Amino acid sequence: MIERILVAAVVLLAAFTARAGSEVPFPADWKGWTAVDTPLTGIGALPGCEADVSALPPIYQETVETYCAVRPEGPGAVAVLVEPGSVEKYRTRSGGFADGSRMVLHLKDLGLLFVTGYNGGKAGYGVFKEDGTDVTDANPDGILGPNTCRVCHSGYSAFCVDGQCGAVQ
Ligand code: HEC
Repeated sequence: MIERILVAAVVLLAAFTARAGSEVPFPADWKGWTAVDTPLTGIGALPGCEADVSALPPIYQETVETYCAVRPEGPGAVAVLVEPGSVEKYRTRSGGFADGSRMVLHLKDLGLLFVTGYNGGKAGYGVFKEDGTDVTDANPDGILGPNTCRVCHSGYSAFCVDGQCGAVQ
């Protein structure tokens, strides 16, 4: 019985360990990716929690609500970077990205990269420091976990197409 419980514990632990961390590879060449202009880069930054964002679409309000508290003045300056071979796909906003990491939301003031990529055509998510350290799931409240990303990027299916939420403007 004890052995059974131990085996179950080890299997569970292995499952959790395997799940922790990014679902997509660190894009080592992200600095050479193409910056695109989107509604969010037009705003320029993710603001703090006191900002009045009631005029923005619900998905943007929810994004601010999810991330505003990471530091007192909010996450701050952002850029959206697209892997150069995928810029046309980003522009047309019709999905079908090739496997691998394809898009980055660069939180410049925090030095973090929110990364979206594809595995077998399915969107996956990860969070890295600029030097490639995987900090996905690193925070205790789970807001940097792939499932937080998925809730929005896959959940707002009327707004986000195949994991892509932004649009070139
Ligand atoms: C509550 C909603 C929400 C959550 C949660 C969220 N995002 Fe986003 N994300 C957005 C929206 C909206 C945009 C488009 C902003 C723009 O460029 O106008 C976006 C943009 C992006 C982009 C740029 C490419 C694109 O889709 O246009 C990446 C990459 C990205 N997010 C990754 C992530 C990752 C990784 C996580 C989890 C750590 C995450 N996001 C969590 C809403 C969300």
